[in-house]
Formats: sequence, C-alpha cells, structure tokens
Amino acid sequence: MNKPNEKITNTGLEPMVYIVGAGPGDPDLITVKGLTILQTADVVIYTDSLVNDELIARAKPEAEVIKSAGLALDEMVEMMVERVRAGKSVARVHTGDPAVYGAILEQMVLMKKAEVAFTIVPGVSSVFAAAAALQAELTVPELTQTLILTRAEGRTPVPDREQLKELASHHCTLALYLSATLTKKVVRELVEAGWSEQTPVAVVQRASWPDQKIVRTTLEHLDKDMAANGIRSHAMILAGWALDPMLHESSEHRSKLYDKTFTHRFRKGVTNG
Ligand SMILES: C[S@@+](CC[C@H](N)C(=O)[O-])C[C@H]1O[C@@H](n2cnc3c(N)ncnc32)[C@H](O)[C@@H]1O
Repeated sequence: MNKPNEKITNTGLEPMVYIVGAGPGDPDLITVKGLTILQTADVVIYTDSLVNDELIARAKPEAEVIKSAGLALDEMVEMMVERVRAGKSVARVHTGDPAVYGAILEQMVLMKKAEVAFTIVPGVSSVFAAAAALQAELTVPELTQTLILTRAEGRTPVPDREQLKELASHHCTLALYLSATLTKKVVRELVEAGWSEQTPVAVVQRASWPDQKIVRTTLEHLDKDMAANGIRSHAMILAGWALDPMLHESSEHRSKLYDKTFTHRFRKGVTNG
C-alpha cells in the first residue's frame, strides 16, 4: 500500500494520499518535496488549527482545499478515499512532522482497509523549531546525549512506564509537547525524579511564527512564568541543563567530531609534531 518512491511527474501526482509534514509554522520550513506535492495536489486537506494558511495558499488555484479540524476521523478518511478513487491526488497536510502526535496511524489503518495508497513526507517538528529559536543544542557533549520527546499526562493517558518521573530519571533533555497547561504536574514529577529546582527550562510558543514567544526560566519558576506570559497552548517546553544559557559562554563542552586529536574516516588525527 505504501509507495516510498512515488513519482511527481510533469503531468501531476499519482492519485493517492500524500501525508505531508508542514513544519512548525513558517511556510518556508516545509521540505522541498512537501511543497512540490502541496503545489501539485488536486485536493489539500489540512489541520487548520495549526498549519499556516500562508502555506496552504501555495496550493494550485484550482485545488479543492478542505479544513480538517471540524471533521471526524471516518468523515475525513472517506473524503480522501472518495477523491483518490476518482483519480485525484490528495495532500493531507499535518503540522510539524506527521509521526509525532499526528494521529496518522488511525488514518492509515482506514486507508489500508479501503485499499487506497498513501505515502508520508516528513516535516520539521516543533521541537526543532523551538531549539533553533533558542539557539540551543539539545545533545551537548558530556552533558547529555539523549533527547526524550514526550508529553505530560492530562486528559490523554500516558502509559505508567512513561510517566515523566520515570523518564526524568535519565536526567537528559526533555521536550514536552501538549503540556502547556500541565506545568504544575511537570515540575512536581521532575523534582520527584531528583531534578534541581534551578534546572533551566525554555518555553517557545508558536516557534517560527511571526508572534513567536520565548520564555527562559527554571523548574522552580516555570508555572508562574507560564501564567505571567499567558502561555496555555501551542508551546514547546524544553527542560534540562542543555538549555542553560551559560553554555554559550563556555568552551567546556566540545564534541569529538571537530576535536583535532580524534580521528575518523574523513580526518586523520593531528599529533604533536
Ligand atoms: C498535536 S501536536 C502536533 C505536533 C507536531 N506533529 C510536531 O511535530 O510539532 C501539537 C503540539 O505540538 C507543539 N507545537 C506545534 N507547533 C508548535 C510551534 N510552532 N511552536 C511550539 N510548539 C508547537 C505544541 O506542544 C502543541 O501543543
């Protein structure tokens, strides 16, 4: 069913569903392939609550454009299936990368059942737009080499073994999606996992949008600072010592990659003399 090597020809796209990552907001942060599909597709269905309308405006003028926020799953998949069966190409445009909290599995299951072909084009997830906005490296040599993408448990349950307290025991960088209203819980669980209240936290709301907002704080002040800045949605919370602004002033954390004494396939080591 899945066709990894679909062809974008001069005459258009093969009739199928193209699940495309739109990126975090800035219309230029879609991939070249994603944009070509968006500009060529006969039908565009997009998550209107999160995808930038400026990007959708790049669809071809005669394309049918459908907003998905008000649609139920069955209704939306049926629309896509009907159109592909009628010989049309459908771009299903998701915010960020479709594989992260994109609810694409349920769509793929139904499309497979309907024997409608689909393919996925990845996108820039909001975690990376937030890191870029903060000018942060999330995997700092000898500080942390691990990034966990997760969410705090709210109305949507999270498996017991993935509770924040468990994940935080690794003391690595945490990226929290969908957690802007759950900061009290976030702080409680990280402190219970042994995180210091001074741990740096950075919040980016609407990363890469013109009204992007950045709040740098600590675990201790996170909840208060979120409230003071009125941030309750569309925000990425990044926590851990990789977010320490002081790292920009230090030359302590250097990678092996550019270490002149460290040899690898593309560079012979430099020794004294
Ligand atoms: C349903 S999830 C979709 C995530 C998306 N698939 C991605 O890869 O970024 C929505 C959550 O992603 C995060 N998010 C999406 N776009 C964002 C942006 N531009 N800035 C900050 N956070 C964003 C927020 O945590 C928001 O609550």
